[in-house]
Amino acid sequence: MRLGEFEFNHPVCSAPMAGVTDKAFRLLAREQDCDLVWTEMISATALTYNNARTRQILDISGEQQPVVVQIFGSDPAVMAKAAKLAEEEGARIIDINMGCPAPKIVKNSEGSALLKDIPLAQRVASATVEAVKVPVTVKIRLGWAASSLVGAELAQALEGVGVAALTVHARTREQFYAGKADWNAITEIKNRVSIPVIGNGDIRDPEDARAMLALTGCDGVMIGRGSLGNPWIFARTTHLLHTGELLPEPLPAARISMALRHLSLLTKIKGEKAVQEMRKHVAWYTKGLRDAAKMRDAIMKTQSSAEMSQVLLQYGQSLGLENA
Ligand SMILES: Cc1cc2nc3c(=O)[nH]c(=O)nc-3n(C[C@H](O)[C@H](O)[C@H](O)COP(=O)(O)O)c2cc1C
Repeated sequence: MRLGEFEFNHPVCSAPMAGVTDKAFRLLAREQDCDLVWTEMISATALTYNNARTRQILDISGEQQPVVVQIFGSDPAVMAKAAKLAEEEGARIIDINMGCPAPKIVKNSEGSALLKDIPLAQRVASATVEAVKVPVTVKIRLGWAASSLVGAELAQALEGVGVAALTVHARTREQFYAGKADWNAITEIKNRVSIPVIGNGDIRDPEDARAMLALTGCDGVMIGRGSLGNPWIFARTTHLLHTGELLPEPLPAARISMALRHLSLLTKIKGEKAVQEMRKHVAWYTKGLRDAAKMRDAIMKTQSSAEMSQVLLQYGQSLGLENA
């Protein structure tokens, strides 16, 4: 599939996840052969007000391109302005969020609320496409509820205004993140448009990605929760798709090493704020490891990055991991 200046062969993508897919996460995903990474979602309104925290989310400097910058909003003029700002900051692909189910987003007619108003969704996309030279993609869900599955209709409407590709999270807004993703619905949408479709929802291991590609004929796959504390999923999926060989899961030593590296990267980027943000990542990296609960209690009490590293190192040693 082609996206502007970039050509991909069934890309393995890292899903946008607010509070997770910051610069440190994206660097690690890239190192693990992830083809296409997304920023966290960025409020178009906040961006046009030059909000400092929003500016930090937009910071993709020093990263290997392309990094897809995702914006959300429901006012076409504000979206156009935000897209231009993102382009000026170096975005080479811009994505519009039409899937976020959070009440505080939906109440402003943003995110998945646009699934209820296809004409507005189309105006938002059209204004964004017109505002920038780079390709604009959209991430959608199947519809607001099981009784209103508008995914294919919306996909066609978006294709009609020049959207370059779609990601389909195969759930409705009503489902939030629960229930099973309906991969057959991805097939239906794929068959109704000629722009590339990236499939998303419930890819938990490399074999799921292969199965989704085979079932739906989608052009690429996107992995969200399956990558939490698990950047190796990108390399293992890419390897499986290219060679047919399933690589083993990382050993405990590699998990601790990666957590330490993640902490060090995040500290470089965000300073001591990293300590608070790393807690959830440490929990994900060490899920299912021996005596991890006790170590996580200690992690919760750490106040500095150095202290947190120390706890991780000691835990690694208690597991007998020389390489941790
Ligand atoms: C913590 C978290 C944050 C998310 N933030 C975003 C976001 O900022 N933008 C977006 O389009 N989707 C967001 N999503 C949805 C994911 O991109 C993805 O569509 C969803 O998790 C389904 O994929 P999965 O089953 O592989 O996790 C988020 C999901 C999670 C779990």
